[in-house]
Amino acid sequence: MNPVDDEWTDRVVLVTGAARGIGLAVVRSFAQLGCCVAGWDLPGSDWSEAQKTSGHGWLAIEGDVSQASDWERVMAQVRERFGRLDVLVNNAGISGLIAPVARYDDAEFDRVIAINLRGVYLGLKHGGQWMSERRTGSIINISSNAGLGGGQFTVAYTASKHAVLGMTKVAGSELGRKGIRVNAVCPSPTDTAMIEELIQAQSPNDPERVHRYMTQNNPMARYANPEEIANAVRFLASDAASYVNGTSLLVDGGLSVG
Ligand SMILES: NC(=O)c1ccc[n+]([C@@H]2O[C@H](COP(=O)([O-])OP(=O)(O)OC[C@H]3O[C@@H](n4cnc5c(N)ncnc54)[C@H](O)[C@@H]3O)[C@@H](O)[C@H]2O)c1
Repeated sequence: MNPVDDEWTDRVVLVTGAARGIGLAVVRSFAQLGCCVAGWDLPGSDWSEAQKTSGHGWLAIEGDVSQASDWERVMAQVRERFGRLDVLVNNAGISGLIAPVARYDDAEFDRVIAINLRGVYLGLKHGGQWMSERRTGSIINISSNAGLGGGQFTVAYTASKHAVLGMTKVAGSELGRKGIRVNAVCPSPTDTAMIEELIQAQSPNDPERVHRYMTQNNPMARYANPEEIANAVRFLASDAASYVNGTSLLVDGGLSVG
């Protein structure tokens, strides 16, 4: 067995928003390393792609990350099936309504905050509690380049992603003392259904124009692919990042440096 296998074999990883997009790429990445993976997504999700990767140990769980009772149930399910939790990836998120602040819908604001912010808070709380028992573990929160900047029409999303970085720092400080590292990944636009839906909503008549604008603005002249974000998650979860705590890794192809 090589050292890489040794590091990962039998580690248990829980990924939220696991049925598609970045979450699915994260599931695949850890499954390929020999980890046991629990994937969590909304009821009625299409698990066909995630299930294909489930060689070592796989558990599909359905529920809503914004609900505390669902976190309690999911933690119990993972505990019953695998008995431990080494890595939690708080990935589930929604972009929400695309509209100016002055015309934003209040209920939609609350919905985005509930999933993107409360969902991550609950993950930190429940994951942190469990990992504290063994005094080891790694939690990775998926924020966004929107968590570092501004931009138009995404007030709830941007607020939630800024807040995720704040919570990452607080949890890194508290849980670091218990041997648990907490970090965030900030992807720029990534080639998933989310970005497709966002662009359709923004420019239903000419989505190609927005695609061109967003990719040409990036030094690498393209979106990230989900596997590139999964690679960053894997690094932060790994022993190679054993002294990395309370910080965020921007994976944006150089977009922020222009
Ligand atoms: N795609 C991008 O351009 C991009 C850029 C930066 C950050 N992100 C972030 O990465 C994460 C994943 O994004 P993606 O592009 O893969 O999105 P996606 O929409 O393709 O996948 C998100 C998954 O989360 C699930 N989900 C949504 N609400 C949930 C809930 N309440 N409970 C459980 N699961 C829920 C969805 O069903 C879906 O399977 C999100 O947090 C997103 O904000 C994405």
